Amino acid sequence: MSVNRTSIHGQWSSRWAFILAATGSAVGLGNIWRFPYLTGENGGGAFVLVYLACVLLVGIPIMMAEILLGRRGRQSPINTMETLAEEEGLSRHWHLLGWMGVIAGFIILSYYSVIAGWTLSYILKTGSGAFIDADAALTQGIFTDLISDPKKLLLWHSIFILMSVVIVARGVKNGLEQAVKILMPALFILLLIMVGYAMSTEKFLEGISYLFIPDFDALADKNLFSDIFLPALGQAFFSLSIGMGAIMIYGSYLPKESSITFSCFTIAIADTSVALLAGIAIFPIVFSYGLEPAGGPGLIFITLPIAFGQMPFGTFFGSLFFILLLFAAWTSGISLLEPAVTWLVENKNMSRVKAAALAGVITWLLGIVTVLSFNDWAFSFSFAGSIKENGLFDIFDILTSNIMLPLGGLLVAIFAAWQMSESSTVEELGLGEGRAYQAWRFAVRYIAPAGVLIIFLNATGLLNVFSS
Ligand code: PFF
Repeated sequence: MSVNRTSIHGQWSSRWAFILAATGSAVGLGNIWRFPYLTGENGGGAFVLVYLACVLLVGIPIMMAEILLGRRGRQSPINTMETLAEEEGLSRHWHLLGWMGVIAGFIILSYYSVIAGWTLSYILKTGSGAFIDADAALTQGIFTDLISDPKKLLLWHSIFILMSVVIVARGVKNGLEQAVKILMPALFILLLIMVGYAMSTEKFLEGISYLFIPDFDALADKNLFSDIFLPALGQAFFSLSIGMGAIMIYGSYLPKESSITFSCFTIAIADTSVALLAGIAIFPIVFSYGLEPAGGPGLIFITLPIAFGQMPFGTFFGSLFFILLLFAAWTSGISLLEPAVTWLVENKNMSRVKAAALAGVITWLLGIVTVLSFNDWAFSFSFAGSIKENGLFDIFDILTSNIMLPLGGLLVAIFAAWQMSESSTVEELGLGEGRAYQAWRFAVRYIAPAGVLIIFLNATGLLNVFSS
């Protein structure tokens, strides 16, 4: 059945506008802040290898499925799932998948905003020359001072939420398309400059081999599934912005004739390159200055300022770097709000401005939990073979990226490959029925769901098929 809906929220001006916006959503703190610290906590090269496999075998097929559903439904993820399910003669309960995404979006943005707030604060710190000739002790001290002050964190968190609400309120096309065009390439170039600096440090090769050569001995005391595979899978979902409806809603603004496959690969390649470049820039500094790779969420805020303090024009490059990181976070933050906002507009008859404000207030309130988890409410526990020191923040992060997003992705895969009729996916994907389509269908029918399920079940110990 040929379906030709239009979205009441608008449409991207071209395929490239979509690619840029989706890359803007994908590239963010996940690449530059989260990927390096998880790699450091989870043993380096082996984690990176599993991560890359997850992106390729699970992430990309599911991303294609999610965009396909979005473009076919052309509504908020909740309503899209309901409409498509009805159209295919399935239970309308599939809309719960949309709801899970909305909830995950609120939780992720609530802590994402606090970390983006650190970035805001670091723009000023770096710009004021606070890191000139700094050593590791100084950068560590400055970071600890920031996170132990709930008032400061709250202020920066509030500013970031406000920034995101303003853009979402203006509509996706106006603010966003313009900004991403310039900021993404600029961030990429600055990362290359950082890599250039990393190459000049004495431990460049050590950093690179830590990142790219799996050290299997280091895994001896780890549980492969819960300590490596699950965090890598979660990071793949988090980094590609899949499993919660963000890419689905962006897909709902994609013109009918644009290629989903080409877009997906472009986004995934850009996203992965940025993460790897961040790793290449950071680990040589970590080793050169005797820092701990497993330093946790503060890793880039402690390592990169050392580099800025040493390199020529470091104050300039440093502030520029944090400005671009802020923009990268901003273009991701808005995509976390979009699924909820579109639902409020569609179902509660709200204006976009009101809907964005309401969603902003909810996330802001929830963000207070994360603000306090770095100071007054801090407690530690052990997860995935490492100690997590910021209790509720870590729980939010693990719950969303390691559980809710992969579960969302699993359900997207099941819906697109097992529940929807083949003719619908053939039509929407526009690949014909040849090999390329069959390869995608196989991946999303078997490989991706099996990958997620095997990792889930083994990580929770329900199915220890691979343990010795
Ligand atoms: N992909 C973003 C990042 O890597 O920073 C974070 C993110 C955005 C996750 C949107 C999930 C999402 F739906």
